[in-house]
Amino acid sequence: MNEEQGQYLKQEQEHAWLIRARILSFDADPGDGDTPRDGSVVYHQDGALWWADGRIQGIGDYRDLAPQLPADVSVIDQRDKLIMPGFIDSHVHYVQLDIMASYGRQLLDWLNDYTFPEECRFAQRAHADNMAEAFLKELMRVGTTSAQVFCSSHPNSVDAFFSASQRRGLCMLAGKVLMDRHAPAALTDQTLGGIRDTERLISDWHGTDRLGYSVTPRFAPTSTRAQLDAAGGLLRNDGSLWLQTHLSENLGELDWVAELFPESRDYLEVYEQSGLVGPRSTFAHGIHLDDGMRKRLADRSANIAFCPSSNLFLGSGLFDRRAAQDIGLNLTLASDIGAGTDLSGLATLKAGYQVGQLLGQPLTAWSGFHALTRGNAISLSLDDRIGRFAPGMDADFVVIDLSASPLMARRMARCESLAEELFTLMMLGDDRAIFETWAGGRLQHRRQD
Ligand code: GUN
Ligand code: ZN
Repeated sequence: MNEEQGQYLKQEQEHAWLIRARILSFDADPGDGDTPRDGSVVYHQDGALWWADGRIQGIGDYRDLAPQLPADVSVIDQRDKLIMPGFIDSHVHYVQLDIMASYGRQLLDWLNDYTFPEECRFAQRAHADNMAEAFLKELMRVGTTSAQVFCSSHPNSVDAFFSASQRRGLCMLAGKVLMDRHAPAALTDQTLGGIRDTERLISDWHGTDRLGYSVTPRFAPTSTRAQLDAAGGLLRNDGSLWLQTHLSENLGELDWVAELFPESRDYLEVYEQSGLVGPRSTFAHGIHLDDGMRKRLADRSANIAFCPSSNLFLGSGLFDRRAAQDIGLNLTLASDIGAGTDLSGLATLKAGYQVGQLLGQPLTAWSGFHALTRGNAISLSLDDRIGRFAPGMDADFVVIDLSASPLMARRMARCESLAEELFTLMMLGDDRAIFETWAGGRLQHRRQD
């Protein structure tokens, strides 16, 4: 951050602020059609977002809001930019930032050859601190202001991540990986030792500032039944906790789960039997599910995290979004780096569109940007605080430059509607389109030109 940004940052909490810009937010799900459902899109061509003390005070047309403003409000004129609520990533591994783009493996070999050796490095607190900072900096550069994050199995890695998030004033969910078998000794817990570590982390971090704890069994093959049951016990004792894990990503994984848990009729039942399936649970992937499993997840209001760039990178399969939606299953959108190829929500939308095209179910820009903001917030039960613009909500937002590259500027000049502009953004946009990222009312990132 340069000196000018430092000044900006120092002033921001002493002031009420207003940005004048084009503003887009969603009050309801726009649906999958080319035209958004009535009342779902809130758009102000000459809009204003006013905030103070980290909270939104007002949102609307500039000319309506201007007369109500306090005298000391600082006005930032960004009429050539588009503002949206900060993007949300429902499933990402901060400890895998440095193994993105590791060649030539599918899930189980990728875990053994690249992922587990990398996660061993997080035994060192200094390494975890450096990586947490690097990861958050990258997140801010791509406009993602909240995420549900896997740490490693070392409690240190969670302390490092939450401390760095707290310093920046971010809303983040995270947890220590629970893993008591089928991984290197340096990564495996004692079955109940991992649970005790989790309890300590919950008591230190859950509900502190804008942070929440997600109980994090890695996936069925790396936890014994005893550890999964104990994780379920934590959720039963405290209904405010979240749960994150992986489900049905890869065919080899499915066979292995069937071998390890012969008492369960399918992969999902392994988690059901341990009490891990509920409205605050997010299961990454869920590619190889039948309608019966989709229905069981939907009946418990559980979430699937659709991670398209990861699914393509690991060759895991094509996620059938339509089948999930037809059954009423909650979907979230996620990068899943290090298997994902890009941290950017825009890139996740692009990959989601491409996967959709291969299945004859293209993702509209309305549906995509809703999912990235209010949709993910609702699924993660964070919608009382983030994901949408309304007075009282947290001031987390991204300032987007729709003409960030010469090519984008050319293509945008041809657009005749907001829908076309948004689709162009999701296909051609990248970190250059993120002009500024604000979270908790604080400037977290400004693009260096
Ligand atoms: N399944 C179990 N662990 C992982 C992981 O770290 N990444 C992905 N993509 N799938 C997993
Ligand atoms: Zn994952």
